Amino acid sequence: MFYWPIDDEIRLRLWERQDAFALAELVRAEAGHLGRWLPFATPAYQESDALTYIDRSRRDWAMYVGLELAVTRAPGWDVVGSVGLHTLDRVNRKGELGYWLSERQQGRGIMTRAAAAMVDTAFTIFDLNRLEIRAQPGNSRSRAIPERLGFTQEALLRDDIRHPHGYVDHVVYGLLRKEWAGR
Ligand SMILES: CC(C)(COP(=O)(O)OP(=O)(O)OC[C@H]1O[C@@H](n2cnc3c(N)ncnc32)[C@H](O)[C@@H]1OP(=O)(O)O)[C@@H](O)C(=O)NCCC(=O)NCCS
Repeated sequence: MFYWPIDDEIRLRLWERQDAFALAELVRAEAGHLGRWLPFATPAYQESDALTYIDRSRRDWAMYVGLELAVTRAPGWDVVGSVGLHTLDRVNRKGELGYWLSERQQGRGIMTRAAAAMVDTAFTIFDLNRLEIRAQPGNSRSRAIPERLGFTQEALLRDDIRHPHGYVDHVVYGLLRKEWAGR
């Protein structure tokens, strides 16, 4: 299996169909933690939902319109989260970065390091000029990631996404390729 070592502790890799069972179990087990911010993460999440997601993520990579990767951690390289480039706009050379991490893996800098690697990928492999991260105003852990990586807080979008519990606002963070290169 191809994997991308970020450092001694973290590897990123493409999702595999055989991840579906474990992914579905993880999402269900962590629905309380993830579902607060991510609409897909409910206690009803099934292996078939995971398979649909995995197939789509592999198709997107094959078509070069996105890159959704599993985040794995030493020593066993179990999946602990996900990080992905999506909503790519080739004409304007921009896209969005999204992520989630298992609750018990928080607080170690895993996602900040994985996200930094994906920012590099966005500006090199995907040749983007602009990258966005969107987070709900109350999601301080998520907002801390673009803030650590030097993104600029640019806007507040009202009722941006429809969650099971209603519409939610999003803070938009933006980073330009020249800012990343000059950091
Ligand atoms: C958003 C989310 C991935 C952030 O996880 P996180 O663990 O806080 O982020 P990181 O893995 O980057 O870890 C940062 C923490 O590790 C610490 N840390 C340790 N080593 C570090 C390092 N080398 N680099 C950066 N931070 C480091 C930081 O100080 C920070 O700790 P703090 O929370 O006490 O300030 C996680 O909370 C999550 O999945 N939430 C639910 C889903 C979600 O909200 N997704 C995003 C939707 S927009």
